[in-house]
Amino acid sequence: MSKGTFYITTPIYYPSDKLHIGHTYCTVATDAMARFKRMQGYDVMFLTGTDEHGQKIEEKAAAKGMTPKQFVDEIIEGPGGILDLWKLMNISYDRFIRTTDDYHEIAVQRIFRKLYENGAIYKGAYKGLYCTPCESFWTESQLTDGKCPDCGRDVEYAEEEAYFFRLSAYTEKILDLYENQPDFLEPASRVNEMVNNFLKPGLDDLCVSRTSFKWGIPVDFDPGHVVYVWVDALTNYITALGYENDRYNDYAKYWPADVHFVGKEIVRFHAIIWPAILMALGEPLPKKIFGHGWLLLDGGKMSKSKGNVVDPTVLAGRYGVDALRYFLLRDFPFGSDGSFSNELLISRINTDLANDLGNLVSRTVSMVEKYFGGTLPSDRQEGPEDAPLLEMAAALRGDVEKEMERYAFQNALSLIFKVTSRANKYIDETAPWVLVKDEANKPRLATVMYNLLETIRICAVLLQPFMPQTCVEIFKQIGAGENLQSWDAIAAFGGLPADVTIQKGATLFPRIDLAKELAALESLTNTN
Ligand code: MSP
Repeated sequence: MSKGTFYITTPIYYPSDKLHIGHTYCTVATDAMARFKRMQGYDVMFLTGTDEHGQKIEEKAAAKGMTPKQFVDEIIEGPGGILDLWKLMNISYDRFIRTTDDYHEIAVQRIFRKLYENGAIYKGAYKGLYCTPCESFWTESQLTDGKCPDCGRDVEYAEEEAYFFRLSAYTEKILDLYENQPDFLEPASRVNEMVNNFLKPGLDDLCVSRTSFKWGIPVDFDPGHVVYVWVDALTNYITALGYENDRYNDYAKYWPADVHFVGKEIVRFHAIIWPAILMALGEPLPKKIFGHGWLLLDGGKMSKSKGNVVDPTVLAGRYGVDALRYFLLRDFPFGSDGSFSNELLISRINTDLANDLGNLVSRTVSMVEKYFGGTLPSDRQEGPEDAPLLEMAAALRGDVEKEMERYAFQNALSLIFKVTSRANKYIDETAPWVLVKDEANKPRLATVMYNLLETIRICAVLLQPFMPQTCVEIFKQIGAGENLQSWDAIAAFGGLPADVTIQKGATLFPRIDLAKELAALESLTNTN
């Protein structure tokens, strides 16, 4: 029976360039969360998509001699494009929205009209500073050293007839929202940023239409105006469910969203502008915005120009999709920035995946094969070494759940790997290679093997949201059938049949020679 619904979203990505490992980070995190919730028994809606309008795309397309639609189609659907990347990374989204989808465009027009008719949007003249790459308007006081506070680039003065959203009327309401619902925006540091940088100074009305370019959703009652990309983009979270359109009929079922995962630089749009728009529409607010940190490269923001080292397709091709997924969620606390490097990635694969998990599986399966021909006898004999391992393994599901509920992927994984290292230690403590020398020890040896296999199974069930393909392989090797792979199947220790049969397979994660690999990556970068 379903435990209820769980609606989770990623930001919709700009199809302006190839996506890099930083974009992959948020999508992998969302995927892990969606898989986790599905395993727990929730009816999950996982939405992702692309944010296709705006001046930046129009300009890039023109530079390539393409129409904007041809340009975005290529980046989204073309070979090695966004859809291919999500397929490669095993992203289990339930719905993919493109802001050029007809149903979305119609819905945005209806939303814009509704806001205009109820007075939330009015017509005026825009005079101000605009950052084209960020598609953001700024006031003088918001600039950093005269430049765009988000990207540090020049802003330009712009003046034109435009529609405005009465954002200034929402300062108090948003402050009240943070006050009454302290977990609306997490981590808490982001609340301080919003309050100090935007709310305390007071919100300005927001310019929500443009006339200086064409590539946007037209304001249907005022030709020449296109809807500001952020209004177009933010509303994707509801239009994708069927709000103001006939394509879907899931709004009542899934809205409000349980969580929007967003990068820190777009928290402002999600935690201030988005709730204000929803309030103006009279619709419920999402339950939570989680503003994750950035993956930094050499201390700065990532970009495709840094080459292959940040290309997820190259990295997944060299180390495997699951190794990459694991690394992204294991190495960096989700709410903070983290420094990406190839060295970190390779070291993490070697220590956790090759030495710890991979080694545990291959040692255990090899011993079961060698000592028992692959099938355990049912005789058992407990020993003093068992309790500490069994207790840890039995408590693991609950412990992991607590961390996942807080979006602490790093902690959840670290707990699972504490158990795999404990299991490796258990092998050393029980010394199966000594036990096997005496026939009388066979029941004890079988118990040790069973405890190891069962511990591996529990860990593999819990690792499925993070490393789905690897877990399929582990289940195969340890003889855990489909009915033993679910969340419910690890409610207690001891699910594997007593006479389980293993099936030895390939090494899960071969060790990587760090120095050689770094040199190989270096030459790859230099040749491109
Ligand atoms: N189109 C907007 C989002 C609209 S949502 C209604 C956008 N697109 S984006 O493609 O530029 O960025 C998408 C997401 O990727 C953002 O959340 C952004 O923070 C994230 N990241 C981009 N580079 C990143 C890193 N280096 N590290 C972590 N996340 C990064 O913004």
